[in-house]
Amino acid sequence: MSNTKILAIESSCDETAAAVVEDGRSILSNIINSQIDIHKLYGGVVPEIASRKHIENINPVIRLALKEAGCRLADIDAIAVTYGPGLVGALLVGVATGKALAFVAGKPLIAVNHIEGHISANYPENKELKPPFAALVVSGGHTYLANVSDYGCYEIIGKTRDDAAGEAFDKIARALDLGYPGGPKIDALAKEGNPSAITFPRASVADAPMDFSFSGLKSAVLNYLNSQEMQGNEINKADVAASFQSAVTDAICDRAMLMCDKTGIKKLAIAGGVAANSALRAQLSSECKKRDISFYSPSLLMCTDNAAMIGAAAYYKYIKNEFASYDLNAVPGLGLG
Ligand code: KG4
Ligand code: ZN
Repeated sequence: MSNTKILAIESSCDETAAAVVEDGRSILSNIINSQIDIHKLYGGVVPEIASRKHIENINPVIRLALKEAGCRLADIDAIAVTYGPGLVGALLVGVATGKALAFVAGKPLIAVNHIEGHISANYPENKELKPPFAALVVSGGHTYLANVSDYGCYEIIGKTRDDAAGEAFDKIARALDLGYPGGPKIDALAKEGNPSAITFPRASVADAPMDFSFSGLKSAVLNYLNSQEMQGNEINKADVAASFQSAVTDAICDRAMLMCDKTGIKKLAIAGGVAANSALRAQLSSECKKRDISFYSPSLLMCTDNAAMIGAAAYYKYIKNEFASYDLNAVPGLGLG
């Protein structure tokens, strides 16, 4: 099956996005309308505002995605939409729009898991990457290590017991008054700091060495900031950012390498917003090199939320005739695997 064009829609959080992807690997357009400027006024995503903005933006974004791809709706073979996980009101805007478009255009509808979308962001940019491989998903809401045995087949090897990696970045950035979203701000500030200045804990989960836990680290950083403040000491924010970031990247790297060592998997693909972190990319890439593991990462734009990744994931459902019906609903708490 070739030249299959999928129009994909993504609206699970604060990005309204639409893309046209051919055969799961070629991005013909990838339009992202970010609401960050509005939400940062409140220090985080406000769900009700996100839903309203998606309603305003979704049709223009889809029109632009078709235009940039040089397509009319009639040229599209299927409509794909993220149905979870995410904010329910935000997801519903995409799901309702996807269903309406599929119905009026008489095209099949494909329901895509947002986390599977993040992993699939690797396909258009690493054309040689094919399952089986190990996937590390580190986003604002999710932290997973998974064995991707085939397209659409995921076995969870490790997950977070509390906060997601991106959530930890956002909370520490807030404590340091760096603004929202915190990950990119900490990434930039950490470049000016010393990662060994403060020793923060690298927590492990006793009975599950490949699970993650970031809440202890978060508390340790907050306690450090409070105690320095109470003692009247000036806080070196760059050192805190660098030391916190190195605790996160060490914890993530350890588990990813443990998984590769234990399973003998020789391919590791990273995904999700935190996969844009420069220190994490460098550390994983160097650890993989030492072990002769091929390391795959999407470009920075494809790490954070976008619709091209949804179109890539959808293609592998299209070729298996895995279509959704018109009673598709949003599933805010959807997991992977
Ligand atoms: O994947 P994503 O766009 O949305 C979710 O599905 O959650 O991830 C957003 C998360 C935010 O927590 C943001 O702070 C984090 O990714 N992030 C980063 C970087 N860029 C985005 N974290 C660390 N370093 C970055 N450069
Ligand atoms: Zn995401």
